[in-house]
Amino acid sequence: MMEELSLHIMDVLQNSLAAGARNVELEIEEDVERDRLVIRVKDDGKGMSPEELKRVQDPFYTTKRSIGVGLGIPMFKWVAEHCGGSFRMESEQGKGTMLEAVMRLSHIDRPPMGDLVDTLLGMVVSSPQVRFVIRYKSGKGEFVFDSREVKEILGDVPLSSAEVVGFLKEYFAENLGAVMEAA
Ligand SMILES: Nc1ncnc2c1ncn2[C@@H]1O[C@H](COP(=O)(O)OP(=O)(O)OP(=O)(O)O)[C@@H](O)[C@H]1O
Ligand SMILES: [Mg+2]
Repeated sequence: MMEELSLHIMDVLQNSLAAGARNVELEIEEDVERDRLVIRVKDDGKGMSPEELKRVQDPFYTTKRSIGVGLGIPMFKWVAEHCGGSFRMESEQGKGTMLEAVMRLSHIDRPPMGDLVDTLLGMVVSSPQVRFVIRYKSGKGEFVFDSREVKEILGDVPLSSAEVVGFLKEYFAENLGAVMEAA
């Protein structure tokens, strides 16, 4: 079992990239009053047929097949449902996919967020051709990041250059760190 939510998030984002997405949106909402944590990812990748969508969420099906089909989704689904929440996926072939995991923030088994800053930074700089929009909402405020805006500002300077990575790391740590409440 993955001990950190950032690892589940990384897996889901990697699935979006593997599906050829050009646009990936990640939304995280912490609602302390309603004791809810929502993690949502939307992409415009190749999507899945209704049968595929059912199959990838079924842990037994995946273990039986085990040909290039992992357990990333069934594990994330299990964690969400086990932690007093819910899990749902919607997908349309040729259009894209949406995944939403909800958990109770205070559930004793809710995994900690983990190193979200490094996880997201790694994704963004290693796939500069993909537009990432990241939104993190909490009682402390909202953090919004759009990799396209950063690329426009950078011009010819690659997103993966050492200075840019260093700057983004600081920017994420400061601004994303400021709104993150859940440990
Ligand atoms: N966003 C997505 N768009 C299209 N297909 C997807 C998406 N997410 C998952 N899938 C399909 O579901 C399958 C299962 O995903 P899952 O993350 O559970 O395992 P995996 O990515 O194959 O392996 P692992 O995550 O264990 O390395 C993927 O191989 C892919 O075919
Ligand atoms: Mg995966």
